[in-house]
Amino acid sequence: MVTRALDVVLLGPPGAGKGTQARRLAEAFVLLHISTGDLLRDEVARGTAPGLEAKAFMNRGELVPDEVVGRMLLRQLHSQQASVGCVYDGYPRTTAQAHLLDGLLAELNRRIDVALFLDVPDEELVTRMAGRRSCPACGSVYHLTAHPPKDGANCDGCGSGLVLRDDDHDGAIRERLRVYKAATAPLLDLYRGRGILREIAGTGTPDQVHGRLRDGMRSVKR
Ligand code: AP5
Repeated sequence: MVTRALDVVLLGPPGAGKGTQARRLAEAFVLLHISTGDLLRDEVARGTAPGLEAKAFMNRGELVPDEVVGRMLLRQLHSQQASVGCVYDGYPRTTAQAHLLDGLLAELNRRIDVALFLDVPDEELVTRMAGRRSCPACGSVYHLTAHPPKDGANCDGCGSGLVLRDDDHDGAIRERLRVYKAATAPLLDLYRGRGILREIAGTGTPDQVHGRLRDGMRSVKR
């Protein structure tokens, strides 16, 4: 039975496995999975005004302006499904975003309970992003060698043809790694200082990583 909301930040560089693991954590702990990357890709696919604004930033591997992402986050946090708590995947990415999230949660008498950091070496990140294939219809994520679709080309779930993400090309991958180190990595110190950071090895199979993340959640009481 859910007794109180739980708010879990999942941190890690691009390609670390945040999306893969956030889905599993959300299911295991009955939380809403909020992926700002998925929300933005959905806006881009639907050709909305925020999507049109975000597209060029994303394709270059740069951060989308805080106001655009902040509005999407606010909508999600105020949804009924968010009342049980959330796994934040890809948010916050800057100190300003971290403070915005703190403020929004404080208004709901909540705070970040734990920040889980997925640690993966750069060479592995590049291999993971270059081999990633995504389903444009249902959002399922595969990898050409680590987690291939059954028929090699189409989504196991809905049968749609899998695609390479627009930002999974060389130039954008390099820029995303650079931006992560400059803007997002400093958040580790912020959460370490609060005593809520758990550093998790993100290498090994997705099952192994999931097990370590569950261990990292042990200190959190619901
Ligand atoms: P976003 O979608 O958040 O991208 P990201 O942070 O770069 O992370 P990725 O989605 O690339 O990787 P992931 O860690 O989720 O890994 P995954 O599970 O897919 O953001 C995209 C863009 O949107 C940003 O660049 C920015 O422009 C914008 N944006 C988003 N949020 C923003 C914000 N808050 N502010 C401003 N702008 C924002 O796994 C990767 C691959 O590895 C997959 O193929 C997977 O199958 C495979 N894999 C996973 N686990 C394993 C494993 N254990 N072993 C082997 N392979 C594995």
